Amino acid sequence: MRKIQIAPSLLASNFLDLESDVKQVVEAKADYLHYDVMDGHFVPNISFGLPIVSAITASFNIVHDVHLMISNPSDYFEAFAKAGAKIITFHYETARDLKNIQSWIKQLHKLGVKAGISIKPQTKVEVLKPLLGTVDLILIMSVEPGFGGQAFLPSAIAKINWLRQELDATKLKTLIEVDGGINLETSKACIDAGVDILVVGSYLFKQKNLAKAIKQLKHE
Ligand code: DX5
Ligand code: ZN
Repeated sequence: MRKIQIAPSLLASNFLDLESDVKQVVEAKADYLHYDVMDGHFVPNISFGLPIVSAITASFNIVHDVHLMISNPSDYFEAFAKAGAKIITFHYETARDLKNIQSWIKQLHKLGVKAGISIKPQTKVEVLKPLLGTVDLILIMSVEPGFGGQAFLPSAIAKINWLRQELDATKLKTLIEVDGGINLETSKACIDAGVDILVVGSYLFKQKNLAKAIKQLKHE
């Protein structure tokens, strides 16, 4: 039985009271903290970066999962590793070619962090086949990256399904994460398709009882 994990997306938290929001999701037994770093170039939005990540990692012991939606991700791998990231995920669409991606994965492992790769809704999941054995995590975007609060794109389900079958057939331990529009209904569909980690933003941070909501999202 796969252990489902929940990664609250801090993009949906109250930035005027960030410490209290982080404390609440950590106490509510979140498994990861998901940081959406946007540069206003790869995606049409600017969010937050290194100072926020290092401030939180210095105070909270949890898996810090950094989602880089920036054009030159490898320029910042070392800085985010130093800032306390445990997983650094870059976008497939920002790399020149497969050789370039494999060198980035090596770079991340050399920095002692887990390497994740993400694909946008328009990118076919099959492009990841050559990377399944080297990357630690695959992040399927179920919304067009750049904003929280968007509707879930059902096309993500077939991608999760395909990945789950490929990974099970080859006995690989690569984790499957899904991001965007996750709520009670879409989380169930993603879990049935074979996902491991659910990123949850707007749905989670509007709940009164976070611990109950996190438990419910796991459908255990
Ligand atoms: C979007 C981000 C997501 C987003 C999720 O580009 O990568 O992590 O914050 O938020 P919701 O759950 O509100 O779609
Ligand atoms: Zn994200």
